[in-house]
Amino acid sequence: MHTSPKVALVTGATQGLGLALAAGLARRLSPGDTVYLTGRDAARVARAVASLPAGRAEVRGELLDVADTAAAGNLAERLDERHGGVDIVFGNAVMRVGPDDDPRRIVDEYAEVNNFGTTRLLRSFGPLVRDGGRLIVVASSFGTLFHLAPALHERFDRPASLDEVDKAVAAWRDAVRDGSARSGDWPGFLNIPSKIGQVAAVRALAGERAEQDRARGILLAAVCPGMINTPTSGAWWDVSGAPSPAEAAGPLLDLALDPVNPEHYGELVRRGRVLPWAP
Ligand SMILES: NC(=O)c1ccc[n+]([C@@H]2O[C@H](COP(=O)([O-])OP(=O)(O)OC[C@H]3O[C@@H](n4cnc5c(N)ncnc54)[C@H](OP(=O)(O)O)[C@@H]3O)[C@@H](O)[C@H]2O)c1
Repeated sequence: MHTSPKVALVTGATQGLGLALAAGLARRLSPGDTVYLTGRDAARVARAVASLPAGRAEVRGELLDVADTAAAGNLAERLDERHGGVDIVFGNAVMRVGPDDDPRRIVDEYAEVNNFGTTRLLRSFGPLVRDGGRLIVVASSFGTLFHLAPALHERFDRPASLDEVDKAVAAWRDAVRDGSARSGDWPGFLNIPSKIGQVAAVRALAGERAEQDRARGILLAAVCPGMINTPTSGAWWDVSGAPSPAEAAGPLLDLALDPVNPEHYGELVRRGRVLPWAP
């Protein structure tokens, strides 16, 4: 990785896994390094920064509402001016929804935060990643084609670009919004197509950058943190016995800080192992 000082950024870091990732980076990076703890609400960002114990790296709060179409680009520009690049980026933000939410009413914001927010982050920060850096999207084990009806696979299987992934996600979003998804092949659980879209975005970008990234020691990957005890999963399942955010963050921090395993490039990784993408 680029020699110190290093710069890391986490989206959706005001609570849950994102906060644990920011805390872990602060603990494991070095004095002189900077961790940007970002979120959509200035007061919550400030509270989250204040809640962290003193680490080795400095933690700085920044506003980054990933649903705001200009925000990632603007922040990337500022950090480029301030530091000349970034070393570690975690796209982690997620819109919290529950089983009682009507998919038709929430799908616009859901896709905007989780999917278009992710592709905007990749477009904005991808070019800033320095040699040896990491560009990591927090997805889930739902993000593979094993969870999607075969008739829909080609939409996500080999997208050539982030724009193509955005188009596939927009078509799904529109079908949920107009109700046609309910009579078709789409799964009812919004999380599944959304996470597949995130992994497809990583795969599409990897197709464009792989050669250069491998030569420069950069890792671009999606990661599954496993079930975590946060209110997001608690709305759906009994997660009282699931790992805490700090525990779940461990393997993700290893991916960001340990030497790169070339097999992880462009893949969905869970606890250091690649999850197969398609049957
Ligand atoms: N929990 C699980 O079991 C589980 C399993 C597999 C994968 N994951 C993935 O792990 C990641 C973190 O999940 P989590 O359980 O830690 O979620 P969480 O506790 O609900 O935290 C979500 C974070 O995203 C932020 N956020 C929401 N909308 C945003 C926006 N527009 N811009 C920026 N930030 C925004 C929230 O900010 P506020 O504080 O402002 O609400 C919060 O900090 C997600 O990608 C999730 O899909 C989780």
